[in-house]
Amino acid sequence: MIQAHDKDALRVVMRGYRSSNEVTAFVPTLGNLHDGHLSLVRKAREVADRVVVSIFINPTQFDKPEDLAAYPRTLETDLALLKAEKVDLVFLPQAAEMYPEGSAARVEVDGISDILEGDSRPGHFSGVATIVAKLFNLVQPDISVFGEKDFQQLMLIRRMERDLDFGIKIIAAPTAREKTGLAMSSRNNYLDSKQRDEIAPGLYAEMLKIKDALLNGDENYLGLQAKSIETLSNQGFKPDYLEIRNAADLSSATTDNNELVILVSAWLGKARLIDNITVNTQ
Ligand code: PAF
Repeated sequence: MIQAHDKDALRVVMRGYRSSNEVTAFVPTLGNLHDGHLSLVRKAREVADRVVVSIFINPTQFDKPEDLAAYPRTLETDLALLKAEKVDLVFLPQAAEMYPEGSAARVEVDGISDILEGDSRPGHFSGVATIVAKLFNLVQPDISVFGEKDFQQLMLIRRMERDLDFGIKIIAAPTAREKTGLAMSSRNNYLDSKQRDEIAPGLYAEMLKIKDALLNGDENYLGLQAKSIETLSNQGFKPDYLEIRNAADLSSATTDNNELVILVSAWLGKARLIDNITVNTQ
C-alpha cells in the first residue's frame, strides 16, 4: 500500500494508474475507520482496478473547534485496516497542504446545504463540498463511493459532481449496522456500553415503526414525526430533528411522493447520532 503524504506524491501515482488505463475508485474519509468505512472500501474494490482512500480530518467541516479537537486520531490502526483490505494508495495530507495560508475559495451547494444537518450545523456542508471538490481535483478518480448513512451529504455530493462537471461516477453504499440495528459511526465511540447496546438502537427501531406505518397507508407525516420525537425523548434521546421527506430532493413530503426518506438526528449523552431509512410507498 502506497502512502502519499503530499499532493505531488499523490499525482505521480494517479498518473501511473491512468496511463495504464486502470479504473480508479476513491473513498474519502476523516479517519477513525470502522466497518462502515471498510464496506465503502470493499464496494470500491468491486468496481475498480485501483482503490484510493484519503484520511484527512477536514477542519472546515467542523462547526465547533472542540469537536475538531476531540475527533479521534487513530492513524496506525486505520492504516493497518486499509492494508488488510488491499487498498492501493492512501492520501494523508496535512491541513497546511490542503488549506495553505490565505486559502479563500469555497464550494457552496445552495439549498440543500441549509436544511436539516445544514440548519443544525451552519457551514458544515460548505466545508464538506469544498474538501470533496479539492480531493476530486487531486485524485481525479473514475468512481467515488459514499455511504447512504449520510444521506444529505450523498445528495450534496451528487449535485456538486453534476453541477461542476467532475465526470466522476458517484456510487452509494448501504448503511452498515451493528446487530442491534445501530448505524456504524465514529460518533458511537462517545457512547457508554449501556447507551450503545440498549438505548441507541432505539433510533433505528423508531424509524422502522414509521416505515411500517407509511407502508400501511398512514399519510399523517406530522403526526408520525411528533409521536416518534416524543417516544425518543422518553427513551433518553434529545432529538434534533426527525422528518419524513421526499427522497428525491429532501423537500417536505407530500402525499404525491412515493419515494420517502425518514431522517433523524438525536443527541444521546455526548454523541449526536444521525441515521435515515428510505421507504417506497408504491
Ligand atoms: O463523510 C465523511 O467522512 C466526510 O464528510 C468526508 C466525505 C470524508 C469529507 O471530509
